[in-house]
Amino acid sequence: MSAEIIDGKALSREVMEDLKPRIASLKEKGIIPGLTVIIVGTDPASMSYVTSKGKACERLGIGSETIMLKEDTSQKDLLAIIENLNQNSRVHGILVQLPLPDQIDENLVLESINSEKDVDGFSPINIGRLMAGQDCFVPATPNGVMEMLARSNIDPEGKHAVIIGRSNIVGKPMAALLMQKKKGANATVTLCHSRTKDMEKLTIQADILIAAIGKPNFVTADMVKPGAVVIDIGINRVDDDSRERGYRIVGDVDFEAVKEIASAITPVPGGVGRMTIAMLMRSTVQSAESSL
Ligand SMILES: NC(=O)c1ccc[n+]([C@@H]2O[C@H](COP(=O)([O-])OP(=O)(O)OC[C@H]3O[C@@H](n4cnc5c(N)ncnc54)[C@H](OP(=O)(O)O)[C@@H]3O)[C@@H](O)[C@H]2O)c1
Repeated sequence: MSAEIIDGKALSREVMEDLKPRIASLKEKGIIPGLTVIIVGTDPASMSYVTSKGKACERLGIGSETIMLKEDTSQKDLLAIIENLNQNSRVHGILVQLPLPDQIDENLVLESINSEKDVDGFSPINIGRLMAGQDCFVPATPNGVMEMLARSNIDPEGKHAVIIGRSNIVGKPMAALLMQKKKGANATVTLCHSRTKDMEKLTIQADILIAAIGKPNFVTADMVKPGAVVIDIGINRVDDDSRERGYRIVGDVDFEAVKEIASAITPVPGGVGRMTIAMLMRSTVQSAESSL
């Protein structure tokens, strides 16, 4: 039996629809939620993500600004721009696209963003709040996964969730969210990474298996327990001469084989990526509401 396909397009549309009345109500009070994205350099993946964010803002009537900086921008200049945005009352969300060039200290930059405007939840204050189980901005991708599970009536409580990947922006916050002592979480979490031994022995136990590695077809059918929920966060370009652009986007999971074993699975594209954008919009609206 083939798995249920968790439709990120449809679920993200639901999240966006829920935002419309909230945005209208803010506008009645004279507030237009505003998101500013800073991008240093021209990394193609970052550029495509920034374009998607801009389109989503436009669709919802959220103010959107993209500050494009040259690859050789100094740390001092970037920090000054962030400080200006911190002070600007029309800006409710500030997002600095990662990775940053070598001359810039990423930690210093993330620390400099006002935690009340850190809609991506990457600043140490929001990371600390997340670990402490407090209300905070949560990184959009793992937040989107939690929302997908909730909207698909998949309750992680008591389940064994195995995450592959421990990055600060995806794997670690994903683990923190799933282990929270609260409704919609309460999972038992195992976090795997490149130094994990016999990883297949862990993944095969997963009721919920989450892949955030960045390697096409990494998760194969033999690593998946029959009936597991499989969430594919990976976004990878693979060469494809049949496409005009010469590549296609795939996730970290061998989708065709794994969908025959899993009970539910997210596709790539059309899965978690869509939710990431929607959650970012939601955080921006939330920030604007908090500014009232
Ligand atoms: N859907 C979305 O909206 C969205 C958002 C963000 C990222 N992504 C995608 O998600 C993927 C992960 O992103 P990221 O930023 O978390 O990447 P990352 O920082 O490169 O982290 C990758 C993680 O995978 C682990 N890993 C690598 N090779 C492994 C192996 N052979 N066995 C076990 N673990 C291994 C690494 O382990 P170590 O820590 O030991 O090196 C690391 O923890 C990428 O494809 C990215 O494009 C998607």
